[in-house]
Amino acid sequence: MDNIKVRGGAPLRGTLKVSGAKNAALPILCSALLADGEHVFRNVPDLRDIETTAQLLRHMGVGVDVDAPIVKIHGRPIEEPDAPYELVKQMRASVLVLGPLAARYGKARVSLPGGCAIGARPIDQHLKGLEAMGATISLDHGYVDLVVPYGRLRGADIHLDIPTVTGTENLMCAATLAKGRTRLSNAAREPEVEELARVLNKMGASVEGAGTDVITIEGREVLQPVDHAIIADRIEAGTYMVGAAITGGDVLLEGITFDHIEVLCAKMRQAGITVEREAGGIRVVGKPPFKPVDVTTEPHPGFPTDMQAQFMLLMTLAAGGSVITETIFENRFMHVPELQRMGARIDVRGRSAFLQGPSKLQGARVMATDLRASASLVLAGLVARGETEVLRVYHLDRGYERIEAKLGALGADIERVHGNA
Ligand code: EPZ
Repeated sequence: MDNIKVRGGAPLRGTLKVSGAKNAALPILCSALLADGEHVFRNVPDLRDIETTAQLLRHMGVGVDVDAPIVKIHGRPIEEPDAPYELVKQMRASVLVLGPLAARYGKARVSLPGGCAIGARPIDQHLKGLEAMGATISLDHGYVDLVVPYGRLRGADIHLDIPTVTGTENLMCAATLAKGRTRLSNAAREPEVEELARVLNKMGASVEGAGTDVITIEGREVLQPVDHAIIADRIEAGTYMVGAAITGGDVLLEGITFDHIEVLCAKMRQAGITVEREAGGIRVVGKPPFKPVDVTTEPHPGFPTDMQAQFMLLMTLAAGGSVITETIFENRFMHVPELQRMGARIDVRGRSAFLQGPSKLQGARVMATDLRASASLVLAGLVARGETEVLRVYHLDRGYERIEAKLGALGADIERVHGNA
């Protein structure tokens, strides 16, 4: 397993091209199951999760050529609409094949994703919605067994108890080939949901209201393959924006849409960081210590949970007390003990972390099991005195394209140490 070594002190300076959005690419690649023919997806990030999705689609009999940032998918009728545990356990987003398979083939056998480091991650809302559309679902030895008795899903009015992101995406896909109209209320409003709707409409679907909490889909008989370039990754961008600020740097993030991370930008400005819209991107100029700012994670357009660990690191360098509250996942403070070992003063009580800053961080050997927590530890190494070694970076490689190359190009003293096996 590879590790990453970082030596603190260098400010990040220069321009960084933001990669395509992982959490848009994953549902979009799975949606290719809805239409036969040659799909071409561009600006797809070079990530482990993309390769895992390709393996899953190939397992089902679909042709997939990954040559990042281009992915070509040769949609054709598949023999085996099933997603085995071996693949789903690597990436719970594999559950995103459920909606397309139910819509296209009227049957699916998909392993339950199981929990992960940050929480139980149930999919009850996905299943409730599919049942409302006429699917019968049984749980069999850890698998979701789905059958559509009449062969084709039918449109339904579905109210989600939680604005689940992948739940909204699964049900949006399922509804595109259902008979009649589907109305999804309390839907997730993330930019990645809007991006998926754009792709589905390009395929010939009729999806309206994506980006709001009510999405209406008119079912179609058949959809067509598409050629589409995927939006930039707002969480990757936000991660590097924090890196620029904490190192006293000056970085232009190219390709990111300001509106997609408006709340993060507002919170960083509140902390005294310069965040400017520039032609084609966002420029961040910062210098610790920062003003303390409280943050509570919420569904979009609120503060994104995927930026909670990175913002907590920022607040360890604020002069005063701040409170970070995580409301989306039940166990998303795994970065806290590691940051405490580096010298951060953090006190966790229930869903809130109480910080006192500014802390003088010291390099250490650290490890996290959550993709975003791992990223915040690499960033911590950029400002800590001495050397920080982040272990098990395969978590990072799931969601950050060549993180050490991108940070190194901005002036960081960083290297990847290739481990055995
Ligand atoms: C998506 O996960 C993202 N993943 C996550 O990003 C992100 O953190 C999350 O949305 C929240 O924004 C992808 O898009 C591939 P949810 P998802 O369903 O869809 C509960 C990253 O780092 N829930 O919106 O799985 C659930 O337990 C990853 O890139 C139910 O109870 O998240 C959680 O507490 C991490 N029942 C909350 O809702 C359900 O049926 C939000 O989950 C579904 C969800």
